[in-house]
Amino acid sequence: MTIKEIFDRMDYGPAPEGNAEAKAWLARHKGAFGHFIDGAFVKPGAGFATKNPATGDMLATVTQGTARDIDSAVAAARRAQPKWARLPGHARAKYLYALARLVQKHSRLLAVLETMDNGKPIRESRDIDVPLVARHFTYHAGLAQLMDSELPGMAPHGVCGAVIPWNFPLLMLAWKVAPALAAGNTIVLKPAEYTPLTALLFAEITREAGLPKGVLNIVTGDGDTGAALVAHPGVDKIAFTGSTPVGRAIRRATAGTGKALTLELGGKSPYIVFDDADIDSAIEGLVDAIWFNQGQVCCAGSRLLVQEGIAERFHEKLKRRMDGLRIGDPLDKCIDVGAVVDSVQLATITDMVNGSDGVVYHANTPLPAGGCYYPPTLITGLGTASRLMQEEIFGPVLVSMTFRTPAEAVDLANNTRFGLAASIWTENVNLALDIAPKVKAGVVWVNATNLFDAAAGFGGVRESGFGREGGWEGLLAYLKPATTAKPLKPVTATPEPSSFDAPTLDRTAKLFIGGKQARPDGGYSRAVFSPKGTHLGHVGLGNRKDIRNAVEAAHAAKGWGKATGHNRAQILYYIAENLSARAAEFAARLRDLTGKGGEAEVEASIARLFTYAAWSDKFDGQVKSVPIRGIALALNEPLGVIGALCPDEAPLLGLISVMAPAIAMGNTCVLVPSEPFPLAATDLYQVLETSDLPSGVVNIVTGAHAELAKPLAGHMDVDAVWSFSSTDLSALIETESASNLKRTWVNDARARDWLGAAGEGRVFLRHATAIKTVWVPYGE
Ligand code: NAI
Repeated sequence: MTIKEIFDRMDYGPAPEGNAEAKAWLARHKGAFGHFIDGAFVKPGAGFATKNPATGDMLATVTQGTARDIDSAVAAARRAQPKWARLPGHARAKYLYALARLVQKHSRLLAVLETMDNGKPIRESRDIDVPLVARHFTYHAGLAQLMDSELPGMAPHGVCGAVIPWNFPLLMLAWKVAPALAAGNTIVLKPAEYTPLTALLFAEITREAGLPKGVLNIVTGDGDTGAALVAHPGVDKIAFTGSTPVGRAIRRATAGTGKALTLELGGKSPYIVFDDADIDSAIEGLVDAIWFNQGQVCCAGSRLLVQEGIAERFHEKLKRRMDGLRIGDPLDKCIDVGAVVDSVQLATITDMVNGSDGVVYHANTPLPAGGCYYPPTLITGLGTASRLMQEEIFGPVLVSMTFRTPAEAVDLANNTRFGLAASIWTENVNLALDIAPKVKAGVVWVNATNLFDAAAGFGGVRESGFGREGGWEGLLAYLKPATTAKPLKPVTATPEPSSFDAPTLDRTAKLFIGGKQARPDGGYSRAVFSPKGTHLGHVGLGNRKDIRNAVEAAHAAKGWGKATGHNRAQILYYIAENLSARAAEFAARLRDLTGKGGEAEVEASIARLFTYAAWSDKFDGQVKSVPIRGIALALNEPLGVIGALCPDEAPLLGLISVMAPAIAMGNTCVLVPSEPFPLAATDLYQVLETSDLPSGVVNIVTGAHAELAKPLAGHMDVDAVWSFSSTDLSALIETESASNLKRTWVNDARARDWLGAAGEGRVFLRHATAIKTVWVPYGE
């Protein structure tokens, strides 16, 4: 072809990336891999093939990990862990830095192998995945270096189990391995069955870095291998990225085991385009939002919401842009869209789209013959409840809907059970920054999409999971307090004596729901006695209906989350002031209930209210140093409704220690007070009523913890559940929480010193908030 002909046609020629090195690497391993355990590859065992989805060629066979393989990997990790954790942060930092450098050194091989195994365009694996992997290790080398001075009193969990998906095989490995190792944990990682190869190459790289044996172990296999890792009693923390159903199964499997858990799950993230947006930029953004990695991205902007006035023009431009996308051999450097990961995933996408009741537009662009290719697709005309509007397709398929007003955009954006990410496109910065906090998501991009960096936390809310990856917040998920709390001692109510004097005036304390005192739905109450057998009064026994009413009231009070920190502080100070005015009365009540002096507990309760009044306007977010022209804001947002089973042993201080941080951060709450000593809480109603606290912000349901825990933890409209009950309800709560994947904070049968330092502070504030990262690039 002559140069003139090339200019005349302006066609792309093929620009293939060589794969000889990757093939040579596979050949060096004779195309068969065993697990990587204790610093060495184990002999390959029975397993399965991993294929190139673009060609259908078999790349290698990998071993199906058995429970015994998991056993030996966990044992190796366990042996290595104490020494690894004892290394100074600087020593671990040097290893992580070495890994970053080696990833850079082998970057082309890693990128080519990733593309061959996964089907993603080489442009993406080369320019996005692998550089982000190196960045992640460099950043975490820094965290390891600073950890000793910046996070005193924290210790690693021990052995971490990581289960990762196939959409970003090496990047997800980095997101788990880097923080785990930085914090002093060792790790057993199970890559996804479709894409195990770069993890195995990485294992080899760790040998080059001289990483001590057993610190990183890789066991390949399918979901059964993952389940065996999750269930292994020698694992202290599980980090999972993948589908919501598997995340839910893992939540149930780990319930009550004391294992720490972070889940990064699916999404159906809105991509909101206002009528004043820069349309061409928004269209280019969409290409990155939904056609990046063939749409197999948990935070893909898969739900386009476009303002009605521009919708027609926007869709037309979009279709034209879709027709220009080049789909083909992922190793070709000029390809926009590669192959879907596997024929199973291709069949899922095809079936979902074929079953759609919308108007389907497939890009008018040639599809290569053979291979797992699916055309870029746009679906319009769907209803809000349509399956494709609600469910993750995990393919190059965009669904679109229009809206009229900003308020409607927010309603539609939040009309999903997920909450991972959102993009907002408008030239009006006021509008963008008004909408960003209103969208339920862990990450928001303003006039941008799919920006990631190791310094900025990534993760979801609602059924998109919990926990953050990246930043200091991500590191904290791999740490726990260095001291172990004492075992929990059950605290029981004084039994009814054989004879007692009835009080002259009957007093039955009610429940406190929506700012009013309410009789328990079941109409039951229980007599409360002092340790000496004096009858102190009756207390209402709440049931699941009362919990439902309380949750409804807590929801109705959600305006509290928008009150300023200053306002919330004023109210907490006012509660403290009113409690102080009645200190003697409360002290006497505590003495009657528990037989112990109550003055110290009342004083500590007043001080605690002051603590959280102080924190109300001081638990600030951060501005993250991300490598873009722009800012990434980490905002501490309230979770919503927190349900809490309060400590039994400190009836007043325990309740205040739970309530005050929750409401200081803008949450509303449903509290179940001390079961044996509930009357300190019911006396508090009047204090709350006279302190300008809006109705419904605090709701109190007295009754049996074991009975009320289930409806509270299973409630679909509760966002987090905490338990400090002296009845160990950790397993029950964590199991029930899987319903809507609410966050949990349970005591795992460990006591807490409510009068001491463990009874307050940042840990409570962190549990009462979720970090939302808002990316705002700037410049013309
Ligand atoms: P998946 O959630 O089944 O797999 C993710 C990982 O979990 C893999 O390593 C798998 O072997 C492992 N796994 C499966 N069952 C397990 C169990 N019971 N216990 C422990 N580990 C287990 O995702 P899959 O089947 O590969 O994809 C299905 C759908 O999931 C996709 O169509 C997509 O909608 C969604 N997905 C979402 C991802 C995300 O990043 N949010 C990533 C991958 C898939």
